[in-house]
Amino acid sequence: MPKIVFQTSIETTMKKTTAPDILRMKAEGKKIPVLTAYGFQIASLLDNAGIPLIIVGDSLGMVEAGYDTTLPVTMDEMIYHTRSVVRGAGTALVVADMPFGSYQASLDEARTNAVRLIKETGAGAVKLEGGIRSAETVKAIVNMDIPVMGHIGLTPQSVHAMGGYKVQGKEAWSRAALAQDALAIEKAGAFAMVLEGIPASLAKEITASVKIPTIGIGAGVHCDGQVLVVNDMLGIAMSGRAPKFVKRYADLNKVISSAVKEYIKEVEAGAFPSDDESY
Ligand code: KIV
Repeated sequence: MPKIVFQTSIETTMKKTTAPDILRMKAEGKKIPVLTAYGFQIASLLDNAGIPLIIVGDSLGMVEAGYDTTLPVTMDEMIYHTRSVVRGAGTALVVADMPFGSYQASLDEARTNAVRLIKETGAGAVKLEGGIRSAETVKAIVNMDIPVMGHIGLTPQSVHAMGGYKVQGKEAWSRAALAQDALAIEKAGAFAMVLEGIPASLAKEITASVKIPTIGIGAGVHCDGQVLVVNDMLGIAMSGRAPKFVKRYADLNKVISSAVKEYIKEVEAGAFPSDDESY
């Protein structure tokens, strides 16, 4: 008689990455590759390729919805996109961005919206922008056992206050303020933080000063991890010139545009569908 072996789901399924796993990667000296995603298909591709952490950024307002800034993005939009990403991300940790206006007005509102993002999407963590000014908010959400990722430096939700998308931390006073911001976010209990648009030397200093992983975007090579907007790195962005920090790993604009032109030509010529594509 063959011996029946019961395999539990723990043994048969790949383990889902958690916020503590990401935190541990810094202690183990492992670099952390991160990308954004906004839908099921791309999330599945990223997950299958081995990305451990996917951020559903409010950048979706610009790259998916075509807004000029991230400011119009709503909680309902974040929830819709995060749900789709969670369905595609088998093992990657999914972090949902808290959109502008969802956490600034009061701690109660921040707690309510963080709970919505976790409960209604299945994400494993939330992300919010701001240093010292957001530390109490980070703490309030972490106290509900929701892992929080911080985000300091060039924070796109502050576009009006910053006077545009400008590299932060260039002057001595601003460097010192950002170094304090990083410490405040760590102290508030964040498990990681994004450093966006700051000099590489400052990112190096911050990365050495905190135990939680720093995930850089336009912040140089010394961060514990790197993140790019997936549309930028795949070359699907509509805007002409990409920012200096973007590296295009593919040119899908070209691939998509030539496929579509070919399709138009074949439909117009009556070459598609052929017998092969017909019943
Ligand atoms: O909105 C976003 O996509 C982000 C990532 C770039 C970190 O904040």
